[in-house]
Amino acid sequence: MKKDKTSTDIKTKTTMVIFGGTGDLTHRKLIPALYQLYINKYLPKDFSLISIGRRDKTTEEYRNDLLASTKRFSTRNLDDESFDTFSRMITYFRLDFDNEKDYDRLLEELKERDQKDILDNYMFYLAVSPDYFTEIVENLKTSKIRKKKSNWQRLIIEKPFGQDLESATKLNEAISKVFDEKDIYRIDHYVAKEMIQNINMLRFQNAIFESIWNRNHISSVQITVLEKEGVGTRGGYYDDTGALRDMVQNHLLQLLAITAMEPPKTLDADDVRNEKVKVFKALREFKDEHLSEKLILGQYNGYQKEDKVDDASTTETLVATKVYIDNKRWEGVPFYLLTGKALKNKTAQITIEFKNSSRYHYGASSEPNILEIKIQPDEGITLHLNVKQPGVIDKMAMVEMDYCQSCLYLFNSPDSYEKLILDAINGDSTLFTRWDELQLTWKYVDSIISSVKDDKSSYLRCYEMGSDGPDELKSFIQSGAKHWWYLNREY
Ligand SMILES: NC(=O)c1ccc[n+]([C@@H]2O[C@H](COP(=O)([O-])OP(=O)(O)OC[C@H]3O[C@@H](n4cnc5c(N)ncnc54)[C@H](OP(=O)(O)O)[C@@H]3O)[C@@H](O)[C@H]2O)c1
Repeated sequence: MKKDKTSTDIKTKTTMVIFGGTGDLTHRKLIPALYQLYINKYLPKDFSLISIGRRDKTTEEYRNDLLASTKRFSTRNLDDESFDTFSRMITYFRLDFDNEKDYDRLLEELKERDQKDILDNYMFYLAVSPDYFTEIVENLKTSKIRKKKSNWQRLIIEKPFGQDLESATKLNEAISKVFDEKDIYRIDHYVAKEMIQNINMLRFQNAIFESIWNRNHISSVQITVLEKEGVGTRGGYYDDTGALRDMVQNHLLQLLAITAMEPPKTLDADDVRNEKVKVFKALREFKDEHLSEKLILGQYNGYQKEDKVDDASTTETLVATKVYIDNKRWEGVPFYLLTGKALKNKTAQITIEFKNSSRYHYGASSEPNILEIKIQPDEGITLHLNVKQPGVIDKMAMVEMDYCQSCLYLFNSPDSYEKLILDAINGDSTLFTRWDELQLTWKYVDSIISSVKDDKSSYLRCYEMGSDGPDELKSFIQSGAKHWWYLNREY
């Protein structure tokens, strides 16, 4: 009897096509990530890469450029011999995004690579300015590349996905005409960081945490992503964007959803993303009343003198906001989101402050238990406990139980892009942002932006470069938490 053809019987080969192959992201992140996947044998067997740029270059020249940049940017050792075999999978292809005929040439290039009885997987990666997202996707359609017979075709698209709900919707409408939602992989590289993926494990695989992960035991949650650098060479982009759009709409709200979501039915992409969507839907509406209690915007001194920044700019380089999730688990628990540039420390962490349950007085008042999930630069988890100080007199002390992931393992954690590229090849979209997540987060951030629109300069607090941010941050946190706990750390 004739056996049915199953998907495992189909022979495939995978071609990744990077638009923006000469750009910073490709050199800094994508190629080093692909090289790591290659040496760890995670890439599919018949994998090749077509890297697109508009400059005239031979493939040989391009491969030499990649060797130099990977040596510079890779976090792990690079071996010339294995890089040489890796780079043989890479072809440089000159194409101008605006030139339709160049896409026809790309189709021909893909056809030339066809092999009998082998179906192709195509992964199109848009490592380009968002101004080109729609144009490239539409050209994939008109050139008939999308119609080419294949096993699958997927689109990876970099952030920023729009500048507000309106522009994100327009962009989404355009790309949805060419790719189905299930084949669109919208990147938020933050979500793929090791310790963020660890949150699910920590919450759902440890009874001691899952049972107390709620309003009865937690008094506040602080999500902080701080940078030491100012805007540097990105002034032009940043001045039109600001911290709310650049950080809060994506990274910080994603961290909030992962921390706060209900346990998903399974760890499948849609179950996880459904739970995140429920969190976004439960965010308390951001109304423009009592603003000082729930929003601080800051700008570092000297920002207006940065290259390509308007000298009267009111763009915020720092945001602190207090968010509530109106559901049974989190009713009344403030989530503090804080992000900023040109600050004293570079750090990203989630701090859970537990309710203080001390019964007795041991000479000093006890501190609440604190759980710190450290994302960067250190990766790990610290639990703060009250214990008895050794001695004949009963005295209390605060100690830290520390799991330092980045010190414990002898290898560096993989870069987010390794995980994201591999997941996209494997068709796992758990860590990629679904359209309904984007819609809800843009709607939320748009409402914050419009609440200060008419009088933004009066809300903007100045802070010194290299400081802890504007003075107002201190009283802001004290309305619902004991401290900004990250400030107690020594870096
Ligand atoms: N860089 C990062 O670390 C980073 C991190 C997160 C997200 N992103 C996002 O990733 C995307 C790319 O950023 P990037 O920093 O890599 O930008 P970039 O360095 O400016 O690179 C842009 C790329 O697009 C190409 N390009 C521009 N116009 C073209 C045209 N008309 N035809 C053909 N090619 C053209 C450039 O080619 P030429 O070199 O020939 O000009 C270059 O390869 C952006 O959406 C950014 O927001 C970047």
